[in-house]
Amino acid sequence: MSNQAPIGVFDSGVGGLTVAREIMRQIPDEKIIYFGDTARVPYGSKSQFTIIRFVRQIVRFLETRDVKAIVVACNTASAYALETIEREIHIPIIGVVKPGARTAVAATENGRIGVIATDATIRSGMYTRYILSLNPDLAVYGKACPLFVPLVEEGMLHDHVTEEIANRYLDELKKQDIDTLILGCTHYPLLRSLIGRCMGISVQLVNPAYETAVSLRELLQEKHLLADPVPEGETVHHEFYVSDGAEKFEIFANSILPYDIRKTQVVDIEAF
Ligand code: DGL
Repeated sequence: MSNQAPIGVFDSGVGGLTVAREIMRQIPDEKIIYFGDTARVPYGSKSQFTIIRFVRQIVRFLETRDVKAIVVACNTASAYALETIEREIHIPIIGVVKPGARTAVAATENGRIGVIATDATIRSGMYTRYILSLNPDLAVYGKACPLFVPLVEEGMLHDHVTEEIANRYLDELKKQDIDTLILGCTHYPLLRSLIGRCMGISVQLVNPAYETAVSLRELLQEKHLLADPVPEGETVHHEFYVSDGAEKFEIFANSILPYDIRKTQVVDIEAF
């Protein structure tokens, strides 16, 4: 496998762009092939069986693009499908759950960690299991916040309705005296300031996207797969694919990425 091959990054939709953004910031020489499963989002309300089927198709698509590594930039897919898929393929693959959990374990001082995520991620118990495997003395409190995803997708990041809903969801966690909160869904970093205001300054927010980019860099280094530095005056050209709604995806992506997307291609993912 060539170190100049691209990295495959995928999510159920636009949320994984928060992970792609971190990869672009931290390892800017890497070319990204991003796939957003916009035709089948949300994954957060689907069964494990369905999520694994979707992820297998996406991985097969990314393999046709000759990627050297894959990042599952979706908490729900990481929680439900990563363990199965990593046994089935030969290229390195990482998710967002373990990097996020590791950071929270290192960050907490009072040993009380909160996790907010989709219904499916909370039901999977993956964050709790992994945190407790690192330190069984910690206490973990999970809370599903299913309305956050559609609110972000509607662009209601600074809306009083979003604030009201956030207060309702987070009230329960505030009573648990947590000092660390994992933003366990790819969309939630876009609500970071609002969530921070609701929780107060004594609670540190952990964005798994940041740590995932750190882990990816370490993984590429270990496997001697880090891309060569881009020559002066040249830029990396990333590629973007979706299963539907290319135009809406592109508007959202261009509003959050430090990269100007000119073309998003639609893929018939069911054919893979
Ligand atoms: N990307 C998903 C996650 O991080 C959120 C959106 C969905 O439910 O598919 O869990």
